[in-house]
Amino acid sequence: MSGKAGTIGNAPRETTVAAQQAAPETALLRLGDQEIELPVVVGSEGEHAVDISKLRSQTGYITLDEGYVNTGTTTSAITYLDGETGILRYRGYPIEELAAHSDFVEVSYLLMFGELPSAEQLDEFRQGLRQHTMLHEDIKSFYSGFPRDAHPMAILGSVVGALSTFYQDSLDPKDPSQVNISLYRLMAKLPTIAAFSHKKSIGQPFIYPRNDLSYCANFLQMMFAVPTEEYTVDPDFAEALNLLLIVHADHEQNCSTSTVRMVGSADANLFASISAGICALWGPLHGGANQACVEMLERIKADPDGVGKYVDLAKDKDSGFRLMGFGHRVYKNYDPRAKIIRATCNRLLSKMDRKDPIFEIAQELESVALSDPYFVERKLYPNVDFYSGVVYRALGIPVGMFTVLFAMGRLPGWIAHWMEMHESNTKRIQRPRQVYTGAQKREYLPVEKR
Ligand code: SDX
Repeated sequence: MSGKAGTIGNAPRETTVAAQQAAPETALLRLGDQEIELPVVVGSEGEHAVDISKLRSQTGYITLDEGYVNTGTTTSAITYLDGETGILRYRGYPIEELAAHSDFVEVSYLLMFGELPSAEQLDEFRQGLRQHTMLHEDIKSFYSGFPRDAHPMAILGSVVGALSTFYQDSLDPKDPSQVNISLYRLMAKLPTIAAFSHKKSIGQPFIYPRNDLSYCANFLQMMFAVPTEEYTVDPDFAEALNLLLIVHADHEQNCSTSTVRMVGSADANLFASISAGICALWGPLHGGANQACVEMLERIKADPDGVGKYVDLAKDKDSGFRLMGFGHRVYKNYDPRAKIIRATCNRLLSKMDRKDPIFEIAQELESVALSDPYFVERKLYPNVDFYSGVVYRALGIPVGMFTVLFAMGRLPGWIAHWMEMHESNTKRIQRPRQVYTGAQKREYLPVEKR
């Protein structure tokens, strides 16, 4: 592995000086008769945060913020998003421009190493990935151990975690060369692991990667080729997949990325940290929403009562039903990724001269919901998961693989955050506090006295 393309040791890091400098103003906190001033940190896009790192030592108090709705766990120079105005930028580049002009491998380089690569760096990165697309032959036996209907996210998380057993000489998170080779292996092998899990589920032979194809075309041929005949990748399919992977590539401190950071903060190796992120992403409130959304749309399609019934169910707290693919912790405006994916749906389906009733229902559901006060008041809009399943269906991807494709897209973002954390001079193991509300001290009673 050469030291040029994509080596973290010389990665140009955007300093977050503005984020580190305390702003002129401070926050005054009054607790009873005690008053303390807390520094205010200002990000490079003007975000303000009260730095409470000295709060407990100065006051004995901690803060409480279920779900970290108001709590920043770190500063970061990777992705900026503004939920109020629907802005998303990777290393300063707007997602709309990257979707229009870049490709997933280049975007992965940008996220992990901080700058758009030169032509030479990009070529070297692409070649480097191609050297690592195959899995160790022993890994194939893992797949025969899984039940036929094993969920591919379970397989993905297990196999990625197990990769560390094959690369025991390169697990040290503090050695840039070991981290570098690990990120190449993960980026190159995830599509192979994913495609093998699909082949396993349909009882077809594994199709090996082809190094003469692009990242996306290679994945599609591993998914859909069979040894008995020639397979040609549809360039429209490869382009649509490329777009989907770009818009999924990072999203600052989301649940799975925070999980990767949390596990990595203990100096666990990169494979273990990414495996943990895959497990978090599987949740239907997070990356699993793309599968849950298409299942919801299928349910609506089969129900003569149609969209209105489900909009009413979503508004009824007691129904336990939510519109999957709708709402977001940060976006209180239209998710810019959903706009790009919806346009991709239109373009791909018209190129295929195909109508997908699920897409029609999704658009009807969006227009009904966005004119309903319940959704308007709560600023609930379609998110990245609302339309992505329509594109995946058009590509022939089975619904159980949708979240696997989310993981493939998010991998460079996870790795970028894991590396940024390890390169930070303020890194500490993540160990949140709590407020105890359980029983106070009491004596043990022997069982005969209870
Ligand atoms: C992703 O963090 C990221 O960046 C994630 C992600 C990424 O790229 O990593 O963007 C990817 O995970 C997108 C989100 C995918 N999940 C879904 O689509 C599942 C459905 N959506 C939700 O359950 C919900 O909107 C969340 C989980 C996404 C956000 O949950 P929050 O921020 O905790 O919001 P909440 O549950 O407190 O809801 C606020 C209000 C509630 O009503 P009130 O109690 O105020 O009356 O909005 C309601 C909720 O009941 N609400 C919904 C709803 N989402 C929120 N009501 C109906 N349908 C929904 N989808």
